[in-house]
Amino acid sequence: MVKIGHRGACGYEPENTLRSFSMALDLGVDMIEFDVHKCRSGELVVIHDDRVDRTTNGKGYVSGMDLRELKNLDAGKGEKIPLLSEVIGLVDGRTRLNIELKGPGTAVDTCRVISDCVKTKKWAWKDFLVSSFNHYELRIIRREEPRIFIGALITGIPIGYSKFAERVGAYAVIPSIEFINKKFIDDSHKRGMKVFVYTVNEPEDIIRMKDMGVDGMFSNFPDRLRD
Ligand code: G3P
Ligand code: MG
Repeated sequence: MVKIGHRGACGYEPENTLRSFSMALDLGVDMIEFDVHKCRSGELVVIHDDRVDRTTNGKGYVSGMDLRELKNLDAGKGEKIPLLSEVIGLVDGRTRLNIELKGPGTAVDTCRVISDCVKTKKWAWKDFLVSSFNHYELRIIRREEPRIFIGALITGIPIGYSKFAERVGAYAVIPSIEFINKKFIDDSHKRGMKVFVYTVNEPEDIIRMKDMGVDGMFSNFPDRLRD
């Protein structure tokens, strides 16, 4: 069972901050999930929403602000919004990373960053999973660098179960706990894909998901996940 820290360990620390990622590492996760957007000056920054309002003391669209402006904001407990490169530097190969592409136009730059990491030899292709609800972005990843592992996010149960994920060449399908069922899991496995479910926080849900046969879980409290 792959234990995945959702936005780091956001049940304990401000989401998508270095502090949250350090906590996830301390809790012994197998993978850390976080979300990326592109800011106005072109850097990939780690933040969930397309606006800074909910998670920082600022206001405005991430895509409308440059890095200098974003770095002036408080993302909680005095933390700054991290760059993708800063998260990779902090983790330094100690666990796997799930980069969720939120903003448009993030796929090509993310490919470049991952490829550079693998060339430095500290990281391997299997250390990265790139996911998105936007499957066209995933298709770009596939085209740019077929060695990158892909996770196809979904809310709901589509006709054809995981066929959509097979079509983008996904390694894993990532459904929501709200809709997941056994038929969906069995279908994904038959198609040769892993099933990682989000977001599982309650102890009874953790047991239920395990019994249903998922391969991994995202949790805001990753220490609650057990093998
Ligand atoms: O990847 C699982 C989960 O992060 C997807 O939803 O909204 O938390 O990014 P969200
Ligand atoms: Mg996410």
